[in-house]
Amino acid sequence: MADAPAKRDVKNHILFEISTEVANRVGGIYSVIKSKAPVTTAEYGERYTLIGPLNHASAAVEVEQLTPKDPAMAETIAAMSERGIGLMYGRWLIEGAPRVLLIDTKTAYRFMDEWKGDLWNTSGIPSPPGDEETNEAVVFGYLVAWFLGEYVAHETKRAVVAHFHEWLAGVGLPLAKKRRIDVTTIFTTHATLLGRYLCAGSVDFYNNLQYFDVDAEAGKRGIYHRYCIERAAAHSCDVFTTVSHITAYESEHLLKRKPDGVLPNGLNVKKFSAMHEFQNLHQTSKERINDFVRGHFYGHNDFDPDNTLYIFTAGRYEYRNKGVDMFIESLARLNHRLKASGSKMTVVAFIIMPAKTHSLTVEALRGQAVIKSLRDTVDVIERSVGKRLFDRALQWHEGDVLPDEKELISSQDRVMLRRRLFAMKRHALPPIVTHNMVNDHEDPILNQIRRVQLFNQPSDRVKIVFHPEFLNSANPVLPMDYDDFVRGTHLGVFSSYYEPWGYTPAECTVMGVPSITTNLSGFGCYMEELIENAADYGIYIVDRRNKGVDDSVNQLTNYMFEFAEKSRRQRINQRNRTERLSDLLDWKRMGMEYIKARQLALRRAYPQSFEGETEAGFFDGTEIKVSRPLSAPGSPRDRSGMMTPGDFASLQEGREGLSTEDYVAWRLPLMLMLEIFSEEE
Ligand code: UDP
Ligand code: G6P
Ligand code: GLC
Repeated sequence: MADAPAKRDVKNHILFEISTEVANRVGGIYSVIKSKAPVTTAEYGERYTLIGPLNHASAAVEVEQLTPKDPAMAETIAAMSERGIGLMYGRWLIEGAPRVLLIDTKTAYRFMDEWKGDLWNTSGIPSPPGDEETNEAVVFGYLVAWFLGEYVAHETKRAVVAHFHEWLAGVGLPLAKKRRIDVTTIFTTHATLLGRYLCAGSVDFYNNLQYFDVDAEAGKRGIYHRYCIERAAAHSCDVFTTVSHITAYESEHLLKRKPDGVLPNGLNVKKFSAMHEFQNLHQTSKERINDFVRGHFYGHNDFDPDNTLYIFTAGRYEYRNKGVDMFIESLARLNHRLKASGSKMTVVAFIIMPAKTHSLTVEALRGQAVIKSLRDTVDVIERSVGKRLFDRALQWHEGDVLPDEKELISSQDRVMLRRRLFAMKRHALPPIVTHNMVNDHEDPILNQIRRVQLFNQPSDRVKIVFHPEFLNSANPVLPMDYDDFVRGTHLGVFSSYYEPWGYTPAECTVMGVPSITTNLSGFGCYMEELIENAADYGIYIVDRRNKGVDDSVNQLTNYMFEFAEKSRRQRINQRNRTERLSDLLDWKRMGMEYIKARQLALRRAYPQSFEGETEAGFFDGTEIKVSRPLSAPGSPRDRSGMMTPGDFASLQEGREGLSTEDYVAWRLPLMLMLEIFSEEE
């Protein structure tokens, strides 16, 4: 916070959002920033700039360079460039086209030791050698603080909000505070380091949150210095926020500051003009998955595509946190139940999680090639049969018999076809994994599949495909972008143990694909609070909070089994209902919390700029250009009047942070619920 703040113009304030995932996909934070860009640029135009480290490879394809028009920006860039810092300013080529400033951290590594010493002296944060991630965070943090300090020296009229995401981008926060840089700051944590680490081990995390000796636990895991950065960021920002209530609770205990509010993640929801368009897209995408499956299971294509369901999980490879252990165990139980009940359904379960690999396997490539050759041969035969049939028909005279179909296929065609059929003979079972793994014998996913013996036997009703790489359309084996793949599936399963938000099930929802999640994920809790009969809407929530592991596994198995019993008509209806929930997740609603957080940050830093204004004045619509949420904010204590997604009335001055009762139930106003839940198909 500024020391003796000037009366800066808060209405036309400048906004910087700082993250290491700007124009650089790693995980969900990239999805936050990218999907939010349209609403934020609609609100701010050129007053909004995203700041991130320069990643040459992704910037080359994602960013178009520009000359800055804002004089303060131009002068700051010039000043830093003069000192040898590489900076790239431009337009991120995504919807909303936000301005980005990418800083080449490598051009500042020569200052690293000096900066590490300074960080220790001024903030007491150690940064031992050898941790590259921390080195990068320190250098990036000092560059951001340098930028902000320089920028506000040139821009003296307007207020500046600097919004930092996650500890990796957080070093700038204690620096901004120590140096009294005249900006106001927000920190959003998308997880806590300790939370992620503790959950990945075998710890009863949620029952012990209050009791962890945080310094000791961080020390034991070799992340004490990172933890210090995260904690310093949480304590030195003006407004501290996180993405869900479950993570707010975790932050309170592990970072020792109650968040001021929750900024849940939204999506850029695109509505099709025709209601059925997303259903048609499901069908076309599913056919592309069918093509892959035909190749992968060649020689074992003894299941009927019309009675096959595609279930999947996807995300960063965090075996326990993302609940893959539970997913595989439940698949084994599902296999057993489908067999025992004599079900005609086959489930193909995909696991999309990047691991270290050498290459695609020969067998995976061969599967697609064999089927392609078969398809090509059948096309040739089809054409020659057609030609022959046409010729015979031309020569036909009254009284002649109709051309005999046996004569239409030549012996040459038969030989060609036989060759293709022989090529489809296979001695081994269809493979579980599409790539050659670096650590095949130690890979937790493969080992769990081995343990439960899901080996794609002909008798198995559940087949498994593990694709240890994110999807993209240039892949020769499964050539689909992730979104298209999701559309073609029937059900997403995300049985996470640790999941501050969880974009993957939210993305399913807006594409009209039902999903299973847990009450330990931010998204799961959010939906559970909003929707009473969530399962009818394709939102299944496994209880991992109050049930033992075995019971949770059974619940997940039941959900999948019940899903497999649905008729096509029931699936289509359910998809319609799922898609209707999209509005609940649209940034046009969710973005309201970001607006509130920025207003609170401005109030805290520049109280005198608000003299005479009532708090409600912020939300009267006059200065907010993004679409307004469906209603106006309610009063703090009136839960029935709650209006916006994270509205606990917590993001207001005069409160120290969320109070613990804020983490519990809250509901949307009746009108919005009626709109979403009214029409029946
Ligand atoms: N994702 C992707 N390609 C894939 C699988 C997943 O781009 O093949 C994306 C997905 O769209 C989602 C993100 O990875 O936006 C994962 O975000 P989430 O919040 O679920 O988890 P995080 O990785 O942040 O913990
Ligand atoms: C969409 C399409 C229908 C198709 C159906 C398949 O609704 O519009 O033409 O029959 O998907 O649904 P299923 O759940 O069997 O993949
Ligand atoms: C984090 C969390 C994830 C969340 C994402 C975006 O990486 O693991 O649950 O969805 O950030 O907030």
